Amino acid sequence: MVLLKQQLLSVEPKPFVKWAGGKRQLMPVIEKHIPADFGAYFEPFLGGGALLFHLLTKNPGLKCNVSDLNSDLVLAYAVIRDRVKELIISLENRAKDYQKNPDSYYYSVRESEPTSHIEKASRLLFLNRTCFNGLYRVNSKGKFNVPLGRYSNPNIVNEENLLSVSHVLQSKRIQINCQDFSSILGLAKKNDFVYFDPPYQPVSKTASFTSYTDRNFSYDDLEMLVDVSEKLGQKGCKVLHSNSKSKQVLDLFSSSKWKVIEIPVNRAINSDSAKRTGHTELLIKNY
Ligand SMILES: C[S@@+](CC[C@H](N)C(=O)[O-])C[C@H]1O[C@@H](n2cnc3c(N)ncnc32)[C@H](O)[C@@H]1O
Repeated sequence: MVLLKQQLLSVEPKPFVKWAGGKRQLMPVIEKHIPADFGAYFEPFLGGGALLFHLLTKNPGLKCNVSDLNSDLVLAYAVIRDRVKELIISLENRAKDYQKNPDSYYYSVRESEPTSHIEKASRLLFLNRTCFNGLYRVNSKGKFNVPLGRYSNPNIVNEENLLSVSHVLQSKRIQINCQDFSSILGLAKKNDFVYFDPPYQPVSKTASFTSYTDRNFSYDDLEMLVDVSEKLGQKGCKVLHSNSKSKQVLDLFSSSKWKVIEIPVNRAINSDSAKRTGHTELLIKNY
């Protein structure tokens, strides 16, 4: 039994949700731009947390302050950290119900509004595993509105990864909050590393995906983000951004304190598979 526990925890923690704009595939490129030394790590647009888990795998004792404005997502992180066994049981029950009748069970869960923390978190994980494209998208009222995906055998529980994520998040040096990105301005200190991965500015009218919350990320938000980043730079923080290669982004980061690096990517969130390849994104840093 002890051996089994060690085996489960030896799985490297990975994002437990598929998230639009998730950075797992880009980690080999982003890794090259992680500062050689830094104090605490801040990630205020956490999403699936690809870079957080990458850094924690290398250094489980890292001091981290991570956050997101999506309250359902932040609750899922807290439940995985604090009540993972109950969460796994709830997901196992959902997996059984799904197998009996995928279509009707999926839509009944999508319509449901559970109140307990365990059921809320297991609803989010279940929908993320079974919905079309594994996409989290809500309408203007904050209601999840993605249709059922076509999967023959979705991995609804993924116990090994949930246990591993739970274990690494239990470090007393990690804080997870639901808040707007600007809240970190008063918290980050000299030599801390801040990674900003906001909803991207659209490169065209049809290419936008910004519905992670009931509030879209506007150009004004991006201007505010650049202002916050410059203030962090003045404090001596090491700031790294991901964003689209759009004119708005290039103009706002045109000052010489920012180094702009173009990186080639395959874009996963597009219903037309032919449009998923051959894009360029930006990494922008002040160090
Ligand atoms: C591109 S995703 C981050 C993806 C993440 N890096 C990953 O690897 O999965 C952007 C995230 O920003 C969050 N967000 C949107 N507006 C925000 C705001 N004003 N403050 C903080 N988070 C926000 C969204 O909920 C979403 O999870």
